[in-house]
Amino acid sequence: MASMFNRRKMIYEGKAKILYEGTEPGTYIQYFKDDASAFNGQKKATIAGKGVLNNRISSHIMTKLESIGVPTHFLRSLNMREQLVRQVEVIPLEVVVRNIAAGSMCKRLGVKEGTILPNPVIEFYLKKDELGDPLVNEQHIFTFGWADPFELEEIIGQTYRVNDYLNGLFAGIGLRLVDFKLEFGRLWGEYDELYIILADEISPDNCRLWDAKTNEKLDKDRFRHDLGNVIEGYQEIAKRLGLVPQGGLISDGAFDEKLAEGLEEIDNELARERRLRAVNKTPPKSPRGV
Ligand SMILES: Nc1ncnc2c1ncn2[C@@H]1O[C@H](COP(=O)(O)OP(=O)(O)O)[C@@H](O)[C@H]1O
Ligand SMILES: [Mg+2]
Repeated sequence: MASMFNRRKMIYEGKAKILYEGTEPGTYIQYFKDDASAFNGQKKATIAGKGVLNNRISSHIMTKLESIGVPTHFLRSLNMREQLVRQVEVIPLEVVVRNIAAGSMCKRLGVKEGTILPNPVIEFYLKKDELGDPLVNEQHIFTFGWADPFELEEIIGQTYRVNDYLNGLFAGIGLRLVDFKLEFGRLWGEYDELYIILADEISPDNCRLWDAKTNEKLDKDRFRHDLGNVIEGYQEIAKRLGLVPQGGLISDGAFDEKLAEGLEEIDNELARERRLRAVNKTPPKSPRGV
């Protein structure tokens, strides 16, 4: 698939996405691959259709967040696997929010999976594959200059807002938001003022989502722990968000690209409006301190 776009300059190929030079200055095109990886790249596979669903889910969630005033890199969806985003300087931290204990928190602290935490817990991991993305604290972050105290304060504030909003969004469709990972970036405005922007993706690749009634896992844990029906889990989340028709996009057990191509664009007035503005000149909404 990616070969269709060879004329474009590739900026970076990651584990789940490819970044290409964008259509306007200051933009990138984010291409969502079907590749899946887990346990720091030790486990790999291709999950047909994952890129399409993650692109839709992330576009939708970023648009919703933008509408409540969280500045995001998302500009607009381009096609079923690609979206136009603002180019940012990525802050090398994975910001994880946990509402319910799962995954590495259970392993590290011996807490039982499913324990409801009395308050959300924010954790920071250094984005460094060679080191397996180690857990770090605020002092590490300041000492090594990955972010300064003002940036971190902004990151934490936005992270709580995203968590509050997403908890409500998912609760409304019968899903429990167990935990998720965010990435932020820096963007400088016309007067060299700094904005902290939500970047990367929000999808079942980096959220744990359990069915509220059965606690069935519908996210990447299905892949991590060989639970089967991975794409069905992702599709279920997309269906409940209203991004995929109830009939689904899987026919005869396989993801149907043709059906996916027929899907309409994510409803996104905000993005359409923003496309018309000069990306470099218009500061995003809600700058720091306002
Ligand atoms: N708006 C953006 N500007 C610049 N870089 C971004 C932006 N959004 C995401 N990225 C970076 O692009 C990469 C996305 O590809 P991904 O497959 O997730 O990579 P990785 O394997 O490094 O996690 C990530 O490294 C992410 O930090
Ligand atoms: Mg990534």
